[in-house]
Amino acid sequence: MQASDIYSVEDARRRAARVVPRAVFDYIDGGADDEVTMADNVRAFREVRFRPRSSAVTEPTTLTTLLGTTLSMPVLLAPCGLVRAMHPDGAHGVARAAAAMGTISVLSTVAGSSLEEVAAGAPGPLWFQLYSPGGPPQSAEMVARAGDAGYQGLVVTMDTPALGHRERDVRNGVAQPFHFTPAGTARLVGQVVARPRWTMSMARAGIQARRARDDGSPGGAGGPTARGVAMGASPFSWDDVATIRSLWAGSLAVKGLLDPGDARRAVECGVDAVVVSNHGGRQLDGAPATMRVLPAIVDAVQGRAAVIVDGGVRRGSDVVKARAAGADAVLVGRAYLYGLAACGQAGVERVLEILRSEMVRTLSLLGCPSVAELDRSWIDLPGTDRPGASPIPSR
Ligand code: FNR
Repeated sequence: MQASDIYSVEDARRRAARVVPRAVFDYIDGGADDEVTMADNVRAFREVRFRPRSSAVTEPTTLTTLLGTTLSMPVLLAPCGLVRAMHPDGAHGVARAAAAMGTISVLSTVAGSSLEEVAAGAPGPLWFQLYSPGGPPQSAEMVARAGDAGYQGLVVTMDTPALGHRERDVRNGVAQPFHFTPAGTARLVGQVVARPRWTMSMARAGIQARRARDDGSPGGAGGPTARGVAMGASPFSWDDVATIRSLWAGSLAVKGLLDPGDARRAVECGVDAVVVSNHGGRQLDGAPATMRVLPAIVDAVQGRAAVIVDGGVRRGSDVVKARAAGADAVLVGRAYLYGLAACGQAGVERVLEILRSEMVRTLSLLGCPSVAELDRSWIDLPGTDRPGASPIPSR
């Protein structure tokens, strides 16, 4: 299957399930515990209804500006760990796809490729996401490295003081810090044998990387994105955020907020953006769907910082809904990971192309000429029959 044969994010998901071993697919597709929050993220978007207006908008624009950078659409690629295990194109392919499609990707601390090498090979702007299981000294070192490597934005993930319990991973024999238990390894061998193309492509990439490492040429550095940092609990306090603000001159976002009071606190720390996120339902199961808390957070922030939302975006129409509810942009996670697992960089580009064309069609059918003109008058939010009313009061 070519990337051009993918027609929706769900197509990419189905394709990914057939291409990569079960344990890899489950790592992408799964959430915490009973996956209630993960499912509710998607449901909350589906519950929003549009209020279309009669007009003859034929060529609406998705162009937008986020923190001074012009983007082809208000969609960024979320930081995601272990992308190197999904396809040999890994984080390099994700960064190239984002640039080719006129947007930004956020490299995870645990993406699995050197942060310097990803930056060196990226033709467009990049952001870096920070975990720091080693505490403030490790944060300071990584902030400095990200700055030296030319990252324009830094995203501090605040919702990981402990690791969520992803039961699919546990059943597949994945233990933390990420490795397979002996039983998991035995099961993985069977899954890998059942996916010969993926296995061959990963083996070829591994040989090339080893050769490059031996030659000392770029592309040879696998392993941790930031040396010495393995995935683990990464608690950040507000004092830590204030310290990071003083160390980082570029755009600063905090990710993983669901509470209007926290959003105000972040603004007081001087952040440029808050990311309304429940980690795609991978951390606290039972946390609210992001679309349900977004309006209250937008109201709390009052334009003093950009508001980005993620979790459950599977259609371009979801991006339009998020913008109408007051978000400046969305991050997509699984949507592009399915494309990556299915077809590498081309799959990521295809997913972005699909989201963009769905946005254009939605705007046109809605009668709205531009994403910039979206506001709450274009939608009914879940659980209300009043345009733009927020179901969750600001505190
Ligand atoms: C993630 N996410 C994540 N977030 C983060 O800050 N650092 C990370 O390393 C990761 N790793 C990660 C791996 C995988 C496989 C997934 C699916 C997600 C969370 C991610 O940035 C984002 O918040 C969610 O993916 C958004 O939800 P959707 O779009 O996947 O529904």
